Amino acid sequence: MNRQSLIKKFDKQAKKYIKRRQNNHAYKFRQRIFREAEGKVLEVSIGTGLNFPFYNKNIELTGIDFSHEMLKAAQNAARNYPFKTTFMHDDVESVEFSANSFDTIVSSGSLCAYQNPIHVLNNFQKWCKPEGKILLLEHGLSTNKMVGWIQKSFNPIMLKFAGCHQDRNITDIVKKSNLKIIQEERHFGGYLYLIWAKP
Ligand SMILES: C[S@@+](CC[C@H](N)C(=O)[O-])C[C@H]1O[C@@H](n2cnc3c(N)ncnc32)[C@H](O)[C@@H]1O
Repeated sequence: MNRQSLIKKFDKQAKKYIKRRQNNHAYKFRQRIFREAEGKVLEVSIGTGLNFPFYNKNIELTGIDFSHEMLKAAQNAARNYPFKTTFMHDDVESVEFSANSFDTIVSSGSLCAYQNPIHVLNNFQKWCKPEGKILLLEHGLSTNKMVGWIQKSFNPIMLKFAGCHQDRNITDIVKKSNLKIIQEERHFGGYLYLIWAKP
């Protein structure tokens, strides 16, 4: 799928993500993992800023997204939070940062969308300070065989309409990257992945 049609798909979804601020089914899991973000934080594919409520006030946040509509909503939402923010309208798969730029790198619901998620994770390894943290909350292939079968069957349709893969095994992808997994949890039938990793 070409970049422009993928961006259009996410632009159209921005309103849905703004509504999730009130009804965020993964709220307690986001809180559990993202309250650990500290220092200079990079949040890739930040969407409308659903993780803002969980950040401590002393962080300095850099948020990237290639969807203008998502980023605009995140910028508006950021006005209600005390931490410093910088927003970048850019593509996570091609953006460049210097090595060791961040103390924490955060991603939620983004590894499903990239053409090459391992390449993105390998960049996290470079961009994050050696003693820093990589915090991931992702959806992917369920541990439940029936659900997994449904996810695989519907993957082509979901990719076409939502721009997002349903059947990626996120743990396997992280293991294939240069990151080191410290802790992993699976919830909602193994469909929701929480991963604490190090560069
Ligand atoms: C499923 S939404 C998740 C948004 C947010 N992280 C959250 O947890 O609510 C995926 C987001 O990734 C963004 N995205 C996907 N691929 C991207 C890329 N290559 N570069 C920048 N943003 C990207 C989309 O625009 C969208 O905002």
